[in-house]
Amino acid sequence: MTDQARYGVDPYLNWVKQEGLPVTEDYGIDLFKVPTADWPRYGVKGGAVHMKGRGDFANMFVLDIPPGQSTTPQRHLFEDVYYVLEGSGSTQLEFADGTRRSFEWGPRSLFAIPLNARHRHFNGSGRERALLVDTTNLPMVLNVFHNEAFVFGTDFDFLERAGKSEYFSGEGDLITVRPGNHMWETNFVPDLGAIELKSWGDRGAGGTNIMFVLADGTMHAHISEMPVGTYKKGHRHGPSFHVMCVAGQGFSLMWYEDEQDFRRIDWKHGVVLAPGDRQFHQHFNTGPRPARYLATAVGGLRYPTTAANRISLIGAKEGDKPAVSKSVKEGGDQIEYEDQDPRIHRLWLEDMRRHNAEPRMEKFIPTPKEFLPPTAAE
Ligand SMILES: [Fe+2]
Repeated sequence: MTDQARYGVDPYLNWVKQEGLPVTEDYGIDLFKVPTADWPRYGVKGGAVHMKGRGDFANMFVLDIPPGQSTTPQRHLFEDVYYVLEGSGSTQLEFADGTRRSFEWGPRSLFAIPLNARHRHFNGSGRERALLVDTTNLPMVLNVFHNEAFVFGTDFDFLERAGKSEYFSGEGDLITVRPGNHMWETNFVPDLGAIELKSWGDRGAGGTNIMFVLADGTMHAHISEMPVGTYKKGHRHGPSFHVMCVAGQGFSLMWYEDEQDFRRIDWKHGVVLAPGDRQFHQHFNTGPRPARYLATAVGGLRYPTTAANRISLIGAKEGDKPAVSKSVKEGGDQIEYEDQDPRIHRLWLEDMRRHNAEPRMEKFIPTPKEFLPPTAAE
């Protein structure tokens, strides 16, 4: 036998294997339970997370930095959006012109590494590990160039992506577009649980959100909040959106148009789910406080990257509503409360009952008789 036939090659998957990274694959994953192994390239423990709905472009890495340790310096031609699951520490960046930046992160921090900037993460604790999850577009980059030395060993500097120095201190610029599309341009958010969100009426039930532009990159991130006793409208879009619970408790349902049953993912801090391409999904708060989640993806408001993202997030043409907040009855991708499968509201009400939580959705959708308090039902 000569060389194996070069046929149907996936350079990204081959690379993951060669790096020795354990892979976890599913629709919903608890990132605290993901197996990790020594990852010589980073000098700490790592694992790869392949959500079934991730599409072709995105992946996740989990980095487990032992107490008092740090990653080896890295630079690479793919984008990183980090979310801190546990622990605290700092990250140092170095640009070719000698400029250095550093910032300190803790639980629920969000940050991005400007493309190809040299960076290093330090665990600031001598006792506790730090657990970070990194959403990246490495699958896209590696499958296009299929050359590891180029992706991890290129000196080119994208200085225009470094951003203002304040972008590393938790400050940023608010760019108001329209409800649902306000952008917060920054490189670092110290605490996603504390950042102020803007109203997004279209998605229903008093929800708020903010879209991020991070390190002028193509990776998207946004954070949404559902008030107590509410849930959001069902919707669908392209793949690669990784949804992570930041605060509160609840669950998500996911289903394809032709499916009879819903796939249910219960979430708490550390759980990620990723709806597949055009798979409907809906998020529900069942807890005593507002529920927040973070979503990361390839392609955002500034750089949609794909035509599907542009239609979904911005609109098919000038003046159009983003498809993601336009009713399916008007050719969009959102299911209004009055059009949703009646099983959905009941499923949520049962869950609310189990949690002893008070529903506050009467304004948007009538409560079925069996769920009304006895006095009101008479
Ligand atoms: Fe979504």
